Amino acid sequence: MSSPDPPTEIEQLMSRGDMIKKFKELEALAILESENDQGSDLSQSTKEATDERGFLIYDTFLSNQIYFDDLKHVNYPGISYTYPPNMFRNKEEVMLHISQDKSLGKGGILWDAAFILSEYVLFKNLLTPSSSIIELGAGCGLVGALMNKLGLPCLTTDLESHVPLMTTNFKQNGLSSENVQVMEWGVHDDDHLSKYDFVLGADIVASLYDPELLAETIHRIIKPTGRGYISFKGREEQYHVRFEKRMKELFESWEIAAATETGSRNKNELVGVICFSGKKPYENDTNKI
Ligand SMILES: C[S@@+](CC[C@H](N)C(=O)[O-])C[C@H]1O[C@@H](n2cnc3c(N)ncnc32)[C@H](O)[C@@H]1O
Repeated sequence: MSSPDPPTEIEQLMSRGDMIKKFKELEALAILESENDQGSDLSQSTKEATDERGFLIYDTFLSNQIYFDDLKHVNYPGISYTYPPNMFRNKEEVMLHISQDKSLGKGGILWDAAFILSEYVLFKNLLTPSSSIIELGAGCGLVGALMNKLGLPCLTTDLESHVPLMTTNFKQNGLSSENVQVMEWGVHDDDHLSKYDFVLGADIVASLYDPELLAETIHRIIKPTGRGYISFKGREEQYHVRFEKRMKELFESWEIAAATETGSRNKNELVGVICFSGKKPYENDTNKI
């Protein structure tokens, strides 16, 4: 009798069954509450503060999180995010005002995975300023905007429908929108063949999105020497398992930094960061390398 396949790394990370179950119940509750535009009891029962724009102040959001990705921020027009001084070549505090547009769906609001990915790559000094950096599925554009603000030019991409929101967020933070672009996986990626030293993505492995197409896009656009960092939340197990399988066919090296190892101020334990490198030759098409 053959023994069952050992659990994949992502399955191991997700084996904290009770925690995930609890998280899902809370997330479902929060979604229900966020759909009530009158405001939720949750948001009234805690002490988040807003600034003069009505944007939620990230530090108060963080200190009042009773669970993570709790969606209490969904009904705010945006989040004002403070990146502390002296964390990455920055002598001064960096403040970003990121608008949200929940009519765009998941991509129109900010996720813990975006804050965690940003802080992880910066705290660990993983990116170099003269390199070519791209963010896929950027949504509101927090990660790309912060990188650009800190002197790490990052092409910030998503579907065409999200470009106006990303552009607004770049412009209202004093950034040129030349680093905002459409990139639909499998459609526009051939314009970017083997071009990037670093590929970033936050919470882009999730239901509704095609995990194999995403893996193949990453493989097409990354340089043979490139590295990638994709943050994810243990939300849709089957999509993560499919993504891991395809990525391991396309890359030599695959590791996961658990939330506790990222150094981020956001302590969502269900978020991890996949770190990969070692692009393998493209199957059946050596021209694509
Ligand atoms: C859950 S959102 C995450 C947004 C943002 N990265 C964050 O963490 O706040 C996933 C994003 O992936 C984008 N996306 C999904 N499928 C895509 C595709 N085929 N091509 C480009 N972007 C895609 C969505 O438009 C959405 O903005």
